[in-house]
Amino acid sequence: MKSLIPEIKSRAAPLATEYISWGTFDAVELATEFVAGQVVHLMGLPDSTRPELVASAAATFDMFGPDNARYREAAPLAAATMTFHSREVSRKTVRPGSWTHALYEAADAGDIGEDDVVPLMSAYTTAAMDTTTHGITAALHHLAGHLRYFKELRAGRLDAAAVFNEAIRLDAPIQGFGRGVTRDTRIGDTPIRAGEQVWLSYGSGGRDPRQWGSFADTFRPGGDLHLALGHGPHACAGRHLALAQAASLLEALAHYGTRLENAGNPVRARNNILHGWETLPLTITPDRRRTSRPPSSTGT
Ligand code: HEM
Repeated sequence: MKSLIPEIKSRAAPLATEYISWGTFDAVELATEFVAGQVVHLMGLPDSTRPELVASAAATFDMFGPDNARYREAAPLAAATMTFHSREVSRKTVRPGSWTHALYEAADAGDIGEDDVVPLMSAYTTAAMDTTTHGITAALHHLAGHLRYFKELRAGRLDAAAVFNEAIRLDAPIQGFGRGVTRDTRIGDTPIRAGEQVWLSYGSGGRDPRQWGSFADTFRPGGDLHLALGHGPHACAGRHLALAQAASLLEALAHYGTRLENAGNPVRARNNILHGWETLPLTITPDRRRTSRPPSSTGT
């Protein structure tokens, strides 16, 4: 992951200056463009798959939720995505040296089955999209409400990773996952039997007053304690990538902008287990001394 950081930063800087130059922009659009571009590149997928990947990830997460209308609407979308991936992704279309290429090499070595390649690739692309976008936009939303922290970030007195970690503590992009219990156990006073289904609520864990006291609901960056990326042997496999992307983009925005403000009412995204913004209008005042690039022609 460390070797990827210069490349991630080099993608963040031009995007940050471009969106800042627009005046008002939608932070969800910025984060989605940044995250999706990076993920498609790392996985080595054809660029044609990008719109489908972005559009379908949320549907897959809807299917982790209860059997409700949202779940039933998502089911055919998620199934169509798997068919799309199986059609578009092959040894011929993936970039040599990419993460998907590594999956094909693992299949060649007999470590995984040939049929496992696309589902595994898909598990990564799905897990990497809206989650990271929601984490980044949660951080920007909190910074817009606490200008002091944006200034500290800009001055290098506050770590961008700490901002991101605090944002996902308060607004866990995945609010919870169901898990099967493998042996009889007990949590607090509650006995749980093997075979039962439990709900791990990362979202409420991050706001537990028994851990954070009266500051449980307050944005106070500084630590990295939360459950938003899971815990233990199956903790999020992409957490270092998510953190590297978030930190690079937040640092770039704070470097090229002097002031971050809300520029309208944000709208919540709806999903069975994801938590984040559908749109988040922001304005960042450009630092004229640092923004050397002219405004982009694609601006709004
Ligand atoms: C802010 C962004 C992200 C959040 C909030 C997030 C959250 C999570 C959570 C809560 C889990 C379950 C952990 C557990 O059961 O203890 C998980 C697992 C996983 N995540 Fe992430 N994730 C993020 C980004 C990513 C990215 C960028 C990737 C891929 C590059 C990724 C790939 C995975 C995979 C493969 C697993 C399954 C790990 C296993 O079962 O061993 N995630 N993630």
